[in-house]
Amino acid sequence: MTGLHVKDLVTEFHSRDKVTRALHGISFEVGSNEIVGIVGESGSGKSTVVRSVIKLLMPPGKVTDGTVTFHGTELSNMPDRKIRQLRGKDIGFVAQNPFSALNPVVRIEKQFANIAKAHGLKVDSESRSRALELLTSTGVNDPERVMRGYAHELSGGMAQRVVIAMALYLNPKLVIADEPTTALDLTVQRQVLDTLTRLTRDSGRSMLVVTHDLGVVANYCDRVLVMYKGNIVEQGPVSEVFVHPQDPYTVSLLNSVVRPEAAPAEAGLEAGPPEAALDARPPEAGLEAGSPEVESNPLAQPPAVVLNRRGQRTATPDAGEPALAVPAPSVHPTELSESRST
Ligand SMILES: Nc1ncnc2c1ncn2[C@@H]1O[C@H](COP(=O)(O)OP(=O)(O)O)[C@@H](O)[C@H]1O
Ligand SMILES: [Mg+2]
Repeated sequence: MTGLHVKDLVTEFHSRDKVTRALHGISFEVGSNEIVGIVGESGSGKSTVVRSVIKLLMPPGKVTDGTVTFHGTELSNMPDRKIRQLRGKDIGFVAQNPFSALNPVVRIEKQFANIAKAHGLKVDSESRSRALELLTSTGVNDPERVMRGYAHELSGGMAQRVVIAMALYLNPKLVIADEPTTALDLTVQRQVLDTLTRLTRDSGRSMLVVTHDLGVVANYCDRVLVMYKGNIVEQGPVSEVFVHPQDPYTVSLLNSVVRPEAAPAEAGLEAGPPEAALDARPPEAGLEAGSPEVESNPLAQPPAVVLNRRGQRTATPDAGEPALAVPAPSVHPTELSESRST
């Protein structure tokens, strides 16, 4: 059995006087070569899914039922040592905040070497070249300089590119990313997500990505899971779920984004669902939508991608057909330099 199979997963948070059930028995799969997006409002359980799957759940969180199988291996009973081996080698993880994933006092080059060593691989000129190649493909302009430097010398966007290169370093079959770009400003978010999905797709890996960016889901994901209050209320191919949503929550989520006739000003990511925001960003998230830098940048309001009634991506919707328009991801990161690039 290839891919990731999650079945009837229940996760709870136990405190002295109460038990909060965060996941109510959810099931989904991520097939080989497949990119699956998870969307849903803040607190719906997206991070809990990811952390339950790769066993990075912090106490008092506990998986109390269900199974997680990865390429035929049941992870639930796997000892921590083996899980650590699996993470990195077979499953690459990209966290929300790149600086929390990088060691501030160790040069980037050494951090790549440590990843290789931790998995019993040789550290030599070949492994170094691979790190440089990956940094280049993630859009790092001067990889040699980045390798010699420290995390604090990097902008947020560059740091996240380094983390993506590290996550892909051991050639994992599956990449899991939990809102990998929320800590970055809007323009850079698009570039980095674009890079991550492109690299995953090009190399035939699969990916599970939590994102608030429905544009990224529409453009890059094969399937989408819509979460609401600890349940997957709807899942399926993006072309079906986004064009013919069945669940009222999915409908409200999609309505909150963009319609083809929406004015450009409404087309931004900031628009929230009527009652529940798609994912309230933390105040430090630095969306900077109003900053001159982003406003003056054409990528801040990329052209919308429209799905027609057959779910195909087109420039214009079918006549008379309500269709969904979502903001398109950015151009390739190397085509646009960052304001604070290295
Ligand atoms: N440390 C915790 N203690 C108690 N409950 C928690 C904790 N972390 C998460 N939860 C519960 O799990 C739910 C889902 O959280 P989370 O997975 O972080 O949501 P999301 O990533 O979608 O924003 C929360 O609404 C909350 O009820
Ligand atoms: Mg989360």
